Amino acid sequence: MRSTELVQWFRQSTPYVNMHRGKTFVIMLDGDAIAGANFINIISDISLLHSLGIKLIIVFGARVQINTLLAQHGIEPIYHKNIRVTDPRTLELVKQAVGKLNYDITARLTLRLPHSPILNVVSSNFILAQPIGVDDGVDYMLSGKIRRIEVENIKQQLERDAIVLISPIAPSVTGETFNLPFEEIATQVAIKLKAEKLIGFCDTQGILDNDRQTLSDLAPQQAIIHLEKLIEDNQYHSSQARFLQAAIEVCRSGVKRSHLISYEEDGSLLQELFTRDGVGTQLSMENAEDVRIATIQDIPGLLELIRPLEQQGILVKRSREQLEMDIANYTIIDRDGVIIACAALNVYAQEKMAEMACVAVHPDYRNSSRGDILLEEIQKRAKQQNIEKLFVLTTRTVHWFQERGFHLADVTNLPQDKRQHYNYARRSKILVKSLKEE
Ligand SMILES: CC(C)(COP(=O)(O)OP(=O)(O)OC[C@H]1O[C@@H](n2cnc3c(N)ncnc32)[C@H](O)[C@@H]1OP(=O)(O)O)[C@@H](O)C(=O)NCCC(=O)NCCS
Repeated sequence: MRSTELVQWFRQSTPYVNMHRGKTFVIMLDGDAIAGANFINIISDISLLHSLGIKLIIVFGARVQINTLLAQHGIEPIYHKNIRVTDPRTLELVKQAVGKLNYDITARLTLRLPHSPILNVVSSNFILAQPIGVDDGVDYMLSGKIRRIEVENIKQQLERDAIVLISPIAPSVTGETFNLPFEEIATQVAIKLKAEKLIGFCDTQGILDNDRQTLSDLAPQQAIIHLEKLIEDNQYHSSQARFLQAAIEVCRSGVKRSHLISYEEDGSLLQELFTRDGVGTQLSMENAEDVRIATIQDIPGLLELIRPLEQQGILVKRSREQLEMDIANYTIIDRDGVIIACAALNVYAQEKMAEMACVAVHPDYRNSSRGDILLEEIQKRAKQQNIEKLFVLTTRTVHWFQERGFHLADVTNLPQDKRQHYNYARRSKILVKSLKEE
């Protein structure tokens, strides 16, 4: 690389370094990726991510390694509905394969780079399992599913700067050991830990179109179609299918982005994360959800969202006519035609102030940063209209706003018109945020 290119690359990647610092990424490594020749480079890039302050959880699988061992012992793998049936003999070989990979990955991560401290890699009983049981008369025996994830324990390890390594074997409270699909673990860990990203590897550079070109962005609906096609083509166990299953699920539950990249091409991970266009396929929550200004057609959906909150006294009651009049003030999040969140911006131009009102996220979609997305959008709209101060009136959500830069204020801080209509009986708290420092 010429020195000017290096300088340019370095500068262009800096915003991404800052954006990713302190965030949690879940990395899925399946047996194929681990067996590949480029694995050593993937591991050193993972170490690099850690040294940039990214919190990392690696969830690995061992399907190919297990099947090789089974073949060596003359055992035919058994699957029912695409899930491995694990008898006691198979479990012994699963433990052998998984144990070896666990040590190998830990050893590779321990390899110290010059001037770098030794990484703390922690694998523990972060996952508790329970048996899948019997389905259609087929006993899955020691194939398990997740019973519980020790979220706090994982968080503590990440806070202590450790890389968390999770294998597809987990104990149950009865003292048995179960074999679990690793994509299921990665999915649930990413959701429970509210990870920023889920990252998977496969033998192509992401998901390819019919001309074998990488599809750089996939909407969840398209991802479902690709997954169905892979299943139709008997590719259920491919890395692509396993990733898509996980990515579709985490995207539904609030993980903002999932990335699928090649385990064969050196540097894919860094290019995907630190360049604008990336190299692989990205599946993002934004593609599933449209953040937009409401129109009159959205009123029935809006009412469905806010009526229950009005009934609970959390939001002030608004008539349909009032909504119709103010509809253009509302920003909504539309998920496949269903309105799952809203917030209104009521402007008091003379005082250069605006109220963020009627903030609501549907209960099924809370705790996935949609409140933050709305606030960002409202702030953007306010700034475009030269608003200098944003205020809210709330009875039960004071801390949520305080944690986002709002400060308690009193009625005298409100615009004249709002002051006159302030409902003293409701005793709402007033919070104000200056937009000038943003
Ligand atoms: C407040 C609300 C909009 C947040 O939406 P959301 O998409 O769940 O929010 P985010 O994902 O951005 O933030 C979630 C965080 O806020 C916290 N939170 C949620 N409601 C809260 C409240 N009433 N007070 C303080 N914190 C709250 C959550 O515990 C979570 O914290 P964590 O990240 O530490 O786990 C949503 O809970 C809601 O619709 N509440 C009912 C309506 C309401 O109170 N509106 C405000 C009146 S104007």
